[in-house]
Amino acid sequence: SIPNPPGPLADDSLKLVADAAHPFIAPGPNDLPGSCPGMNTLANHGYIPRNGVARPDQIITAVMEAFNFGNDFAKFVVYQALLLDGNPLTNLLSIGKKTHETGPDPPKPALVGGLSQHNTFEGDTSMTRVEAFFGDSFVFNEELFQKFISFCEKFGFNGTYDIGPASELRHQRLQDSIQTSPQLVFIAPRILSTYSEATLPCSSSLMDVQTTVSSALTRFPQISPLSQQIFDKHPFTSGVNQGVNNFVLMPNTPALTDFCGIYKDLVNRVIASQHPNPTGALKKVLNKNLTFLFDGAKVNHNCTQEFPFGTD
Ligand code: HEM
Ligand code: MG
Repeated sequence: SIPNPPGPLADDSLKLVADAAHPFIAPGPNDLPGSCPGMNTLANHGYIPRNGVARPDQIITAVMEAFNFGNDFAKFVVYQALLLDGNPLTNLLSIGKKTHETGPDPPKPALVGGLSQHNTFEGDTSMTRVEAFFGDSFVFNEELFQKFISFCEKFGFNGTYDIGPASELRHQRLQDSIQTSPQLVFIAPRILSTYSEATLPCSSSLMDVQTTVSSALTRFPQISPLSQQIFDKHPFTSGVNQGVNNFVLMPNTPALTDFCGIYKDLVNRVIASQHPNPTGALKKVLNKNLTFLFDGAKVNHNCTQEFPFGTD
């Protein structure tokens, strides 16, 4: 049986997170760095297992402790990741590529591909990773990172990362992809993660992605109002490229502002497509994880729970 997710932290006051108990150790050859700089940082500091294979409850506790994520938001993101990229049978998720360390997979078309699996949680128009069409979309890209820095210098208050550079860079990454990436996909659920992720570097300790630098105090801003501000500067309609510079709009897919629509599409289309007809123990754990996901979706919305696999 799988453990319930942890609740909110008893003490969420500011504290040093790169403390003596969590020293930076660079990943070894068998460790699994991946598409999320936040997860990589947590593994490199031992907030989650350093080999990059972790249970959802470990990740939830880690993001609350080290990055001050709220409990609901943490649950929403982590159970989304488990259901798209993890192994619900063993309750393990790889933050990098697919690995046997997550145990025997459920039947295909379940992917259990890890956070690096393209077009699940990982998707196009990342700030510091190239499009999957061009190469490893989970590997830190120095050239894109330099672009990130230059946007901070050009648009940020005193050269820092804030709403200005965040919205200009987000807009620019989308325009770049429209012009160069023949298989660009920019619809839900990716539209939600791009805009949430664009807010995350606002916390200072994140960008020790590649290096050993790790600063200390983090206090997390509210993510959805910031996403909204980033969107408002350069609004867009969802769509997909059918060849280079041929962005076909998909106005009937859920928009960024329609959180419940995105939740519904995520559950009924994206997650359900990996498990066409689950039975027995698999169905049971899927339903349990879907309930944890829905719990997290209460973060600031009033959605209705979806049951793609029926109730038990
Ligand atoms: C990107 C997962 C928490 C910061 C990503 C991506 C995934 C992911 C799959 C790749 C999306 C893409 O760019 O294609 C998760 C999960 C988390 C989590 C499951 C669990 C709660 C965090 C935390 C931070 C963070 C705590 C830092 C405060 C970022 C940033 C990106 C990102 C900045 C964008 C990277 C880029 O665009 O180049 N995350 N993440 N994430 N994550 Fe996380
Ligand atoms: Mg990506």
